[in-house]
Amino acid sequence: MAALERGATIAVIGAGSMGAGIAQVAAAAGHDALLYDTNPEAVIRGIETVGRGLDRLVQRGKMSRQAHNELLARIKPVATLEELADARLVVEAIVEDLSAKETLFTGLEKICSQETILASNTSSLSITAIAANLSRPGNLAGMHFFNPAPVMKLVEVVSGVSTDRVVAETLFDTAAAWGKQPVHTRSSPGFIVNRVARPFYAEALRLLEEGAADCATIDAIVRESGGFRMGPFELMDLIGHDVNYAVTCSVFNAFYQDKRFLPSLLQKELVDGGLLGRKSGRGFHDYTEASDKPLPKTAARVAAPAVIEVIGSLGPAEPLLANWQRAGIKISRIEGEDNKVRIGSTLIALSDGRSATQRAADNGEPDTLLFDLALDYSGAGRIALAAADQASTKAAEDAVGLFQAGGKTVSLIDDTPGLVVMRTVCMLANEGADAVLQQVCDADAVDTAMQSGVNYPLGPLAWADRIGPALVLEVLINLQRAYGIDRYRPSLLLSRKVAAGASFYSKC
Ligand code: NAI
Repeated sequence: MAALERGATIAVIGAGSMGAGIAQVAAAAGHDALLYDTNPEAVIRGIETVGRGLDRLVQRGKMSRQAHNELLARIKPVATLEELADARLVVEAIVEDLSAKETLFTGLEKICSQETILASNTSSLSITAIAANLSRPGNLAGMHFFNPAPVMKLVEVVSGVSTDRVVAETLFDTAAAWGKQPVHTRSSPGFIVNRVARPFYAEALRLLEEGAADCATIDAIVRESGGFRMGPFELMDLIGHDVNYAVTCSVFNAFYQDKRFLPSLLQKELVDGGLLGRKSGRGFHDYTEASDKPLPKTAARVAAPAVIEVIGSLGPAEPLLANWQRAGIKISRIEGEDNKVRIGSTLIALSDGRSATQRAADNGEPDTLLFDLALDYSGAGRIALAAADQASTKAAEDAVGLFQAGGKTVSLIDDTPGLVVMRTVCMLANEGADAVLQQVCDADAVDTAMQSGVNYPLGPLAWADRIGPALVLEVLINLQRAYGIDRYRPSLLLSRKVAAGASFYSKC
């Protein structure tokens, strides 16, 4: 299979934010890009928008004026669908409506050649359904760009039940030739990104609802400990709650209301109140000029402990030892169950999905505190801790002092199973595992999609491998036990990996 040659004409239908961007991508790769819209003014506006974007590149010295002019000249407005007859590929980016897309593609089949590839940029409709009434359904696939199309690397190449393999491969290679990062996915609700990303928002919403911490604190933990570029609340505010809530509802309903994807009442309340995020001036955060940006809750500085005992291995948190050593803390290592530190009667352990209170009760050790998952324990600026309800103030101070000595700002959150980053990452990995299990895509596509589509710092399945699938499974089982609901049920693929002693990227 090979990418479409540079001389091939590409047509884009729908000149809104996505269509104009896709035309720019094709033109930047050297193709003539015909742009059509039922509203001729939208075509003019679309090309003007592209021109303004390119102007900025010229001003910043990233593009020559000549290249700018040549690129813009390759985007050609057309006034009728008939003018698209010679296109080798037609990418549709019209309104998100099944019957509008069906009607458009049925019409195109009569105009274009038998070989023309038809692609839809739909985010939520079934590719199989869009192709259902075509005479050549094999020629149609999804080509799902992310917004803004010229900037975002990811393209999900979506195969419906009838899509020809050659068509999907050609789109994949073409997207790669256009400088994009394509992944293959089967047509299923949310494809990869809009499905696997749901827990990123859902877990944060749940934590907020249960009073674990406020939005600013959760955002800071996810950014500074989890390494994500944006916290969930600031990201939802940016996307717009109307859009984000609609995607969640669409995925939830498409999966026959599987509780895993249950929408949040808290978010619905914002939508109902017109508090849509940045675009309306207020969502979870307030964007009016008068308001001060709320600061994350941060524990006051306390003294570092002089001596600690590390039990077994600290597992993923092992790099913390060097930080503590540098701070002059004397570390003695003793045999025992992994992932724990002891300071006198205080036990500090990595979250395993139980609450600190539960763990204190299970172990008969009231002075128990838990710490959260971090992407990079050595470099992370912040860490979340939770104290058991039974724990003494002194125990909390021991733990806070220890992590502060290790260079962390500490957010002491209300005791909650799986803390913040741990439960979020485990749920992302679980959803990714289920997508692989259900043959929506392979593990590599999950991770590539989440990294290049939504800028995750690490793919969820690679992250699961890094901390160990057994820990991910344990966290999910404990979350499921703690809440007594189906939402946290572990993917069969995850259980199988653990039982086989395998990981997502290696057999054993
Ligand atoms: P938009 O509303 O900005 O643009 C849609 C354009 O299509 C409008 O200019 C409209 O006049 C035109 N149009 C409507 N019906 C038409 C028809 N039958 N024939 C020709 N033109 C027609 O929409 P946007 O945001 O660009 O989205 C377009 C598609 O891309 C949708 O399917 C959407 O789900 C998908 N998408 C949107 C993303 C986003 O972030 N906005 C991201 C990825 C996919």
